[in-house]
Amino acid sequence: MTKLGIPGGTTINAKLLAWVDEMAKLCKPDSIHICDGSDREYDALCEMMVASGTMIKLNEAKRPNSYLCRSDPRDVARVEDRTFICSATKAEAGPTNNWVAPKEMLARMTKLYDGCMKGRTMYVVPFSMGPLGSNIAHIGVQLTDSAYAVANMKIMTRMGQKVLDLIGKDGDFVKCLHSIGAPLAEGQADVLWPCNPDNITIAHFPEDRAIWSFGSGYGGNALLGKKCFALRIASTMGRDEGWLAEHMLIVGVESPEGEKTYVGAAFPSACGKTNFAMLQPPQGFEGWKIWTVGDDIAWIKPGTDGKFYAINPEAGFFGVAPGTGHHTNANAMEACAKNSIFTNVALTDEGDVWWEGMTEETPAHLIDWKGRDWTPDSKEPAAHPNARFTAPVSQCPTTDPDWENPAGVPISAFIFGGRLSKTMPLVYQSFSWTHGVYLAATMGSEATAAAVGQAAIRRDPFAMLPFCGYNMADYFTHWLEMGRKVNNPPPIFRVNWFRKDANGKFMWPGFGDNMRVLAWIVDRAHGRKAAVESPFGHVPHYEDINWKGLDYPKAKFEELMSIDREDGVAEARSQEDLFDKFHDRVPPEFNNERELLKARLWRSPAKWGVKSE
Ligand code: GTP
Ligand code: SPV
Ligand code: MN
Repeated sequence: MTKLGIPGGTTINAKLLAWVDEMAKLCKPDSIHICDGSDREYDALCEMMVASGTMIKLNEAKRPNSYLCRSDPRDVARVEDRTFICSATKAEAGPTNNWVAPKEMLARMTKLYDGCMKGRTMYVVPFSMGPLGSNIAHIGVQLTDSAYAVANMKIMTRMGQKVLDLIGKDGDFVKCLHSIGAPLAEGQADVLWPCNPDNITIAHFPEDRAIWSFGSGYGGNALLGKKCFALRIASTMGRDEGWLAEHMLIVGVESPEGEKTYVGAAFPSACGKTNFAMLQPPQGFEGWKIWTVGDDIAWIKPGTDGKFYAINPEAGFFGVAPGTGHHTNANAMEACAKNSIFTNVALTDEGDVWWEGMTEETPAHLIDWKGRDWTPDSKEPAAHPNARFTAPVSQCPTTDPDWENPAGVPISAFIFGGRLSKTMPLVYQSFSWTHGVYLAATMGSEATAAAVGQAAIRRDPFAMLPFCGYNMADYFTHWLEMGRKVNNPPPIFRVNWFRKDANGKFMWPGFGDNMRVLAWIVDRAHGRKAAVESPFGHVPHYEDINWKGLDYPKAKFEELMSIDREDGVAEARSQEDLFDKFHDRVPPEFNNERELLKARLWRSPAKWGVKSE
């Protein structure tokens, strides 16, 4: 029996038992608790954290069974400069990943882990990424000294005894070791958010399919099923086994006639995946339905029928709170209306949560994410910009009936979109699979929370720059090859919701109105609707978009879709800089694609504009 005061799960898996034993000898926790994933266990964990002050129970009438946590201000996001891919050689990690030799990293971190769980409980968290037993799913076990991480893993994954039963005596799993790195000496009082900011290290060992994370309790640093496993380790597994692990939402579009089309869309962190996955069709799209399968990660395999099939490996949303409101994303608001954990948002006087953009009216008084009194006159935002809600996928009103289908859903199109205020039009379609892979590989975006100290615009190929577990050039090649594993590879699109006018205002309304673009994409995927060739790709005429219910003048659309030749040429040149980093590992097709792009730009007017049919 541990501090929780309840019995835990049981396992007869020899590999797991030996590993737990070995890691316990190293980390020296006071006790070990094997998680069974029950509600009773979740409640006991939360009660314990409420008693210690780490969690605040929210008003049961307003936000049933929900909690607020405030992290240490030094531990508020993933830390990309402390994230490492420890493959056997530096070349295998590639120029876009931090690399340390596995032996050296193991030695370094063994020192950090030595005694790191003293005074704490080591939780053994067995979890499945994907529906239990799906042939696309995989199992992991996380060892952690963070009760907060355990509670979040319960929402974000399928966690507990059923997973232990599935791996049985000799089933395999990905080893995920996590410590906040804050041992407690005898009698030492704990802090509300223990962590070890100076020593944060997030290391991946792709050859061993293992993860070692130290020092942070926040998000992708601590919920190891997410970015560490489902993207970095899984991308390596996908390369070896012939599938794809992507930073993609999965959404189904149902027409009034009942035709259902699924698309996968990759946008970098904090660029609108959650919103797009739960999109509310605007006026003019009566009878259309949007179905959510996932909002962050997709695992995609070629099926026996020659199509790509995708699952969401997660069971929860870890969504950006600021900017999410009833007017922008009512479905996300519904998803986190109960049974949710909120991190680094503000607390209202009624014991509910609040963040910037949640309501049109700002409350007169709040407790901000640092626990201080806050009024609308305060200089800092009430919620941290990377404040998050953790909520079950099943609570979203648009959750797809097939979201847990172990076979996955068929994917008919891929979409890639960054946050770019200049140069990039609203939407364009690639000329071919190879050109589409090129468009995804050259995606750029303006920096977000986890990318501290980086240039304003950075290349973020496939929205996977911080998440690819091996050499990104090999990843490009893998994508080119995957197109040959299916009969008709889905068309590939680039989108940009974030273009701004001369006054710095967004030119595109975004959110629900993104449906207008999505509907054109679906039509194109089914071989319907015309398009015109631009230097960047195929684009819609004004007339190809359904404008019903939105007053969007043709001249504004043409401005939104325009391509400035000088900007385009500069873009092509800077794409060269990106690929130079990879030397001769870059697929040869890419050089040809770039030359074709340049040639199209040379032949285009100084300002290319889309004309009517
Ligand atoms: P991660 O969870 O970090 O991977 O991010 P995400 O891609 O799921 O980001 P999310 O959907 O939470 O979007 C974050 C921000 O984008 C919020 O501030 C939203 O208000 C904003 N956003 C989402 N969709 C749109 C859009 O169509 N237009 C504009 N201008 N902003 C948007
Ligand atoms: C992201 O940063 O892309 C996220 C949040 O989805 S985290 O899980 O913290 O990585
Ligand atoms: Mn993400």
